[in-house]
Amino acid sequence: MSADKSNSWSYTEGLPVEDETLLRARERSHELGAHAVTAATGALLSVLAASSKAQTAVEIGAGAGISGVYLLRGLPTSAVLTSIDGDVEHLKAAREAFSEAGFPANRTRTISGRASDVLPRLTDAAYDLVLVNADKAGYPGYVEQAIRLLKSGGLLIVNDALDKDRVAEPAVREASTVVLRQVGKSIREDERLISTMLPTGDGVLLAVKR
Ligand SMILES: C[S@@+](CC[C@H](N)C(=O)[O-])C[C@H]1O[C@@H](n2cnc3c(N)ncnc32)[C@H](O)[C@@H]1O
Repeated sequence: MSADKSNSWSYTEGLPVEDETLLRARERSHELGAHAVTAATGALLSVLAASSKAQTAVEIGAGAGISGVYLLRGLPTSAVLTSIDGDVEHLKAAREAFSEAGFPANRTRTISGRASDVLPRLTDAAYDLVLVNADKAGYPGYVEQAIRLLKSGGLLIVNDALDKDRVAEPAVREASTVVLRQVGKSIREDERLISTMLPTGDGVLLAVKR
């Protein structure tokens, strides 16, 4: 293995080409200050959604809808995506993206509210896929809720898991980095899960519930 993987990382990040719908959604995301998944992470979400054949999916942190469009493009046409966001403007932009991408309203359920208030209201073991992509301080609680929500065999996806490459630097003790380092460790050690970490985008942690 070569010592410097950055060329391969840049190459793979640059491979997916986004269409007009996603580019417009990205513009809105940028204006709103929501940090969307990268195109390579989005492509990964589509593949994961398609391979999991999930019928019920949840995303915690809808942003302007970029991750949601990628998930919906992979999910079967009968699947429903529940998108949660605490910011009504972000959720409005997400609905716009879903509509522009051609998904009928019955394919999505958008819920406005703090994830820590919304998640406990969702049904136990009723979901096939959960994406965590909101405020990092909340990740430990969202992961625990996600494990409760997932069916056996369901897929947990944790985005931004490497916290801008800081998780790998033991000397970095920033609050978000410490939280994500701990989340990664607890998922790796969790007997209920089978997990792996990918360096895609800002790090994507994947775990299947046994
Ligand atoms: C990183 S962005 C999500 C980007 C989105 N997944 C995408 O790829 O387009 C994080 C989102 O989480 C939302 N958020 C932050 N804290 C939250 C909370 N406590 N409850 C619910 N949503 C929250 C923000 O409003 C923001 O839209």
